[in-house]
Amino acid sequence: MSAPRHVAVIMDGNGRWAKAKGLPRLMGHRAGADALDRVMHYCRDAGVEFLTVYAFSTENWKRSTEEVSGLMKLLSSFIHKKEKELVGNGIRFRVIGRRTDLSEKLQKEIAALEKKTAGGSFTLVVALSYGGRDEILRAAAKFQGGTEEDFSALLDTAGIPDPDLIVRTSGELRLSNFLLWQAAYAEFYFTDVLWPDFGREEFDKALASFAKRERRMGGRK
Ligand code: FPP
Repeated sequence: MSAPRHVAVIMDGNGRWAKAKGLPRLMGHRAGADALDRVMHYCRDAGVEFLTVYAFSTENWKRSTEEVSGLMKLLSSFIHKKEKELVGNGIRFRVIGRRTDLSEKLQKEIAALEKKTAGGSFTLVVALSYGGRDEILRAAAKFQGGTEEDFSALLDTAGIPDPDLIVRTSGELRLSNFLLWQAAYAEFYFTDVLWPDFGREEFDKALASFAKRERRMGGRK
């Protein structure tokens, strides 16, 4: 079974997971961060080379101050807690999105971890203050004409192959401004499972479903 080279995930349903358990929303995000940790390991074991996760969209700034600051703290603690593991296991950390929207402290933590993990063979890409249209607009402002490849090189994802498989949890069937340019030929896998409950079984189902697809990338059979 050939694994997708790049898996991208819209980690949806943290809030509903928490609500169903009578917990604050932030507990759902914390459980979501644990799910990300698990999935990163499944990906490495399966031979996936890139995992991109939608952690915070340009729209997410509209959430309550409490939720926004809680999510920012969670990201910062993820960076600190994971540093050793990422460096030790050859996992490259990279952020896409409008990073100047983030606090200077978080920007510095991100830049430091990106630098320390630069040589890794597996890449975890975290989309933060990310919107596909925003990314395309920023690239378009720099574009002076040329090929699709030339344009791709101006996107935040420069050097990262397009996603082969995009997974969205919690039953929503939308792209929600995620990787708009890069998703041109991606396969999709949707599941009703809420992100904090996403485990081995669901991951295997997503990969098995991908393996059955016939990818023509717009060409004829
Ligand atoms: C969508 O669920 C999820 C988010 C907006 C945040 C995703 C963030 C994480 C999983 C946590 C941390 C990430 C890292 C990199 C440490 P929702 O809140 O919209 O859920 P709902 O639709 O059920 O309300």
